[in-house]
Amino acid sequence: MADNIVTVAYICSAILFILSLAGLSTPETARRGIIFGVIGMAIALLATAGSHEFSGYGMLALAIVPAVAIGAFLAARVKMTEMPELVAILHSFVGAAAVLVGFATYFNPENQLAGIERIIHDVEVYIGVCIGSITFTGSVIAFAKLRGIMSGSPLTLPGRHLLNLAMLLGTIVLGIAFARAETTSSAIIMLLIATVITGVVGVHMVMAIGGADMPVVVSMLNSYSGWAAAAAGFMLSNDLLIITGALVGSSGAILSIIMCRGMNRSFISVILGGFGTASGKAAVVEGEAIPIEVDETVELLKQAKKIVIIPGYGMAVAQAQHALAHVTEILRDKGADVKFAIHPVAGRLPGHMNVLLAEARVPYDIVHEMEDVNADFDQTDVVLVIGANDIVNPSALDDPNSPIAGMPVLECWHAKTVIVMKRSMASGYAGIGNPLFVRSNTRMLFGDAKKNVDAILAAYRD
Ligand code: TAP
Repeated sequence: MADNIVTVAYICSAILFILSLAGLSTPETARRGIIFGVIGMAIALLATAGSHEFSGYGMLALAIVPAVAIGAFLAARVKMTEMPELVAILHSFVGAAAVLVGFATYFNPENQLAGIERIIHDVEVYIGVCIGSITFTGSVIAFAKLRGIMSGSPLTLPGRHLLNLAMLLGTIVLGIAFARAETTSSAIIMLLIATVITGVVGVHMVMAIGGADMPVVVSMLNSYSGWAAAAAGFMLSNDLLIITGALVGSSGAILSIIMCRGMNRSFISVILGGFGTASGKAAVVEGEAIPIEVDETVELLKQAKKIVIIPGYGMAVAQAQHALAHVTEILRDKGADVKFAIHPVAGRLPGHMNVLLAEARVPYDIVHEMEDVNADFDQTDVVLVIGANDIVNPSALDDPNSPIAGMPVLECWHAKTVIVMKRSMASGYAGIGNPLFVRSNTRMLFGDAKKNVDAILAAYRD
């Protein structure tokens, strides 16, 4: 394929990736966004494989065929609740790829650069390997935390910020020595040491982040993986990889900032791991929860004019969204004003609840963001909390020692009655008690969310 055709193909791909990101910004256009992304990636792969610089088709097939088969198999099997883990482990692959590309380009015998070109190339390799290594180890730890293989509580080593600073300075000093190294063997040793140090930085940074801040880590690693890909693009002199990496890197960074705003956290504090998080002991929840049965719930719903539904991670686990969509339809047909209230970190990945509700065909215009609903709770008759916990925890506002102190939450307790559907009094992701469950206007509808929503639906249909 001639160079100019490859360039045109790369430009088309880059435009399709931008359209894809734009499409992914709202649920209505998300499907179209994904299609643009897939077409863009297919064009990019074909153009790269067809360029005259490329010849290793056997090797490409050997890498791509099993990778596509394994990827398709795992993606088809993954449950919606396991998506963040899948995303985290995929980020680790990008990080590992950047490290391997860095070493491979450094060792490439055809690479005969000299003078300033050599220095620029070495800097590209060094930065690419360092970002790749942080992304790789950080993503593996994030995967382990999200999967529950590792505890979600933050590792707060004494002097951890000094340790991070020392590792950062060490990496910069090694980088200068690497670019100035007189022999290849000494440069390689420095590159290897830097890979290990930045790998430790990745581990330490994610280990220091507490459970409630994990959403930011997922989007932050997404951003790092983009920058790692962009660095690989510089090393390989591939413009499209640079553009794609920069798009992923900057959109991941913007998402991290949005998530931090949603949780009232400072971005810098979160990425530095635990800066400013509560150091005291969270208050113990005291009081008796008042249980409720399905028939009483149905009675309350029948009398309610204004209803707000708050879905959380438990709705995803129970897969209650379809039955819930039917209940919503019935309630609206009977004249109730029904709204869904979505917290920015509900569930386990950005937009988790929106995806599930869209899948169950809940109309978009009744799905609202937290800021739009919080002021309405005092005029609401019934709030149905379905498998949510941390996002409706009043201690975020009342208890300065709570690990989620300062995080904005859905202030549903201002409603007349709050019905919480969950299986037990167990805590949520942040591992803390929830005083909402023992408030005088709260009723606990214990059991699996799907079973209970099905029972409510059956009661309406009888
Ligand atoms: P959580 O606080 O994790 O609470 C979910 C609740 O669902 C649990 O307390 C659980 O109680 C209940 N549950 C589980 N299975 C259920 C089932 N089958 N039926 C009924 N209930 C069930 O969820 P949330 O309120 O959505 O808050 C999200 C949390 O995850 C936040 O702390 C957030 O920081 C964190 N997080 C979010 C993300 C993103 S990006 N959204 C990523 C990582 C972490 P029982 O066991 O008693 O049933």
